Amino acid sequence: MRPFHFCMFFLLVATVSAVAQTPAQSGNPSLQGEPRRFDTREYFGYVPANEDDALFTNQTALAEEFLHAHNWIRKQYNLPAYAWDEELASYARGYLMQRYEDCKLIHSNSKFGENLFWGKQRHWAPSDATYYWYQEKQWYDFKTLSCAPPPKACGHFTQMVWRDSQRIGCALQHCHNIHMGMLIACEYDPAGNYVNENPLQLHVA
Ligand SMILES: *[C@@H]1O[C@H](CO)[C@@H](O)[C@H](O)[C@H]1NC(C)=O
Repeated sequence: MRPFHFCMFFLLVATVSAVAQTPAQSGNPSLQGEPRRFDTREYFGYVPANEDDALFTNQTALAEEFLHAHNWIRKQYNLPAYAWDEELASYARGYLMQRYEDCKLIHSNSKFGENLFWGKQRHWAPSDATYYWYQEKQWYDFKTLSCAPPPKACGHFTQMVWRDSQRIGCALQHCHNIHMGMLIACEYDPAGNYVNENPLQLHVA
């Protein structure tokens, strides 16, 4: 069985499968451009070593924040922590470069699990994307291993808490046109989201 991939429009909570070319638009588009509603870094207890917003120049700070937010979530479910993987991060950066012109939420053809996030403005940080992916937990039922019906989606969340996934690498990037906003991508290896499997339990091959 192939793992699923998931995308996310900021605050629209729409997902598309790996084959869909255009994400469904739903919800209230006017919300997309809103400023941050609250401090997601504070939510995850992340204290940047550097006050400057150096996310676009300092790869170490970027990695630290993505990893911190993901592992905060993993800890809630007693899962082993993710390790940062520079090859995955490099893959994510390379793929977002390919989306620089169109800024579209389209999945790459990676063999990794892949979470995508798009925001209309350019102020989104690793903790923000991770937080909005994490919010899908409210739609997921661990007893039945199922998600609330579309347009609700849970795949970003289940990938983040997929026990067998061990490594992540992520990237964020402004798009070509300032009105297009920015994209954030995380790659997960090994990929998760196999149907009818419990994310929290070891995969039985
Ligand atoms: C980059 O970020 C790391 C981790 O937050 C920090 O320790 C380091 O001082 C930063 N480097 C620069 C050049 O700002």
